[in-house]
Amino acid sequence: MRLNAYLARAGVASRRGAEELIRAGRVRVNGEVAGLATFVESQDTVEVDGSPIEPEPLTYVLLHKPAGVVTTARDPQGRPTVVGLVNHERRVVPVGRLDADTTGALLLTNDGPLAHRLMHPRYEVDKVYEAEVEGEPSAEALAELADGVELEDGRTSPAEVDRLSPSRIELTIHEGKKHQVKRMLQAVGHPVRSLHRSRYAALTLDGLAPGEWRELTPDEVAKLRTPGTP
Ligand code: URA
Repeated sequence: MRLNAYLARAGVASRRGAEELIRAGRVRVNGEVAGLATFVESQDTVEVDGSPIEPEPLTYVLLHKPAGVVTTARDPQGRPTVVGLVNHERRVVPVGRLDADTTGALLLTNDGPLAHRLMHPRYEVDKVYEAEVEGEPSAEALAELADGVELEDGRTSPAEVDRLSPSRIELTIHEGKKHQVKRMLQAVGHPVRSLHRSRYAALTLDGLAPGEWRELTPDEVAKLRTPGTP
């Protein structure tokens, strides 16, 4: 991350203020006076006026997102946001997106590299959705969903599909195309009435009411960091 952002996150100054410190030659990275273009990684030592700076601790939050809240840091229409709802003292941001009307498990973190990895389909994070749909999908429709359906931005990868009740379908996918589940179900003729994400990787919503959040345990974070675990 850029040095001014690093200093701002560590609470040293605002980004602007940090730029001034850097310009004044008061910031050293690994012992060298740093410039505005300097990038820092977690293993670098950063000092301001000779005092070492502690980087902001990495934070991981699981939110039970309620309906009506948008998955951005700021909404031009002034709707409530997940970042405002969590209101964490550290600047956590959502990993991926749930639609405003979708409820369920949403991870927020300030660990940019991990968030980036988790969002890549290659990392194969399980995302489990429960969809209440119009009509009663046939076994053929469910098989189509499982094989992959043609959407305007490409074919979806194979998914795990279970019927929970005649009009309630559980879908496990690894991708995160925009409105993916809604578009998949629409494509097989069963528009979604309501959508809930019951699990993200190994993280379920046990003990979290809508709107509540908790920090992940160190074990949960370790699991997220290990590719190939659910
Ligand atoms: N798929 C959707 O259509 N919406 C979501 O919010 C998440 C997945």
